[in-house]
Amino acid sequence: MPLSKPPLAEKLTRRIPASQRPDLAGVLIPEADLQRRIALMGRAIARDYAGKDVLVVSLLSGTVLFLADLLRRLPFPLRVDFLGVSSYGLGTESGNLVFNKELKLDVCGAHVLVVDDILDTGKTLRAVTEKITALKPASIRTCVLLDKKDRRVGSFEADYVGFRIPNLFVVGYGLDFAERYRNLPFVGVLKPEVYAPKPAPKPGPASARKSAA
Ligand code: XMP
Repeated sequence: MPLSKPPLAEKLTRRIPASQRPDLAGVLIPEADLQRRIALMGRAIARDYAGKDVLVVSLLSGTVLFLADLLRRLPFPLRVDFLGVSSYGLGTESGNLVFNKELKLDVCGAHVLVVDDILDTGKTLRAVTEKITALKPASIRTCVLLDKKDRRVGSFEADYVGFRIPNLFVVGYGLDFAERYRNLPFVGVLKPEVYAPKPAPKPGPASARKSAA
């Protein structure tokens, strides 16, 4: 059963650790809120999957902290496997999807729960669910920590959603920018100048003098 009305975390707080202050605009979801919500998600998932042969398929690498905390909230036997998918290069815009790690376990007949960090355009989870459906699981559902619903291209909804968030590039709690920030214990927002391309410098007096020469 999908979780109803996840809380909307729209306000950035200013509680930023001093060591991260130069790069972060704010904390979007503090650690305590993450843990509270994940406990609720775990309870809902445990109710829905009681007594079933569950295979959790986690998408690398952004789920690393979310998965570890969610699994500890699932009090029933299950298997875990990993699928490597990358849709971002070193920037913040979606690129082509590449599967760089395949599943090891047998999916056929299992109740598959796909766990991802963030649902954005929906391209990744759509491709992943199609790929897994072809392997004939007994059922397939999706679980995401974050949902940027405004960015969706076409229709795709996750079955379990932690937080609906506005269209901001977020890092921390597993999420990265250029492979950094995954270790932050909260979800934060980067200052745009960290990822936005710097404007080309205007020709100063020195270069003006040079071209005039
Ligand atoms: P799509 O567009 O396929 O994107 O739904 C899902 C994947 O894109 C990455 N993503 C982000 N990563 N901060 C990140 O660190 C973000 O704000 C963000 N938005 C999307 C992420 O890898 C996700 O699995």
